[in-house]
Amino acid sequence: MKDLFSLEGKKAVVVGGAGGMGRGIAGGLVDYGADVAIADVNADALEQISANLTETHGKDVRSYLVDCTSDDSVRQLVDAAVADMGRVDVLVNALGYNFKAPPSSSRWTSGTSSSASTSAAS
Ligand SMILES: NC(=O)c1ccc[n+]([C@@H]2O[C@H](COP(=O)([O-])OP(=O)(O)OC[C@H]3O[C@@H](n4cnc5c(N)ncnc54)[C@H](O)[C@@H]3O)[C@@H](O)[C@H]2O)c1
Repeated sequence: MKDLFSLEGKKAVVVGGAGGMGRGIAGGLVDYGADVAIADVNADALEQISANLTETHGKDVRSYLVDCTSDDSVRQLVDAAVADMGRVDVLVNALGYNFKAPPSSSRWTSGTSSSASTSAAS
């Protein structure tokens, strides 16, 4: 089955890769042979998850800091990933921003509260 769905030689970027869905998808992509990078706004989790994926799946998983609410930050991610990996064959968007608040809360209209750096770094 793995031969049928082999991703050997493919370059994959998982945005939101430090989250629950993202890290699971990233691990699956590695298991099927892809070279994988995860990107996320959460710098601490990003470092921890990329190290964990590298250890548990036996292949280096790159990481990039990105804030997808910023066009500049996304462009920097694309530039860095293409510079490091040569190209991107697979893009997974698994980021999310969830919060619980009553319908009257101003949070529904104030957008995200991300305070992360907008620079991408490997
Ligand atoms: N978990 C599920 O069962 C499930 C099912 C269906 C859909 N989803 C959707 O999939 C997405 C991911 O779900 P999850 O459970 O992995 O959530 P999660 O909270 O575990 O992960 C989301 C990740 O996105 C990152 N993120 C948030 N804002 C970002 C930004 N501006 N730039 C870059 N990264 C950012 C977070 O730091 C986090 O690591 C969500 O949109 C969720 O609604 C989840």
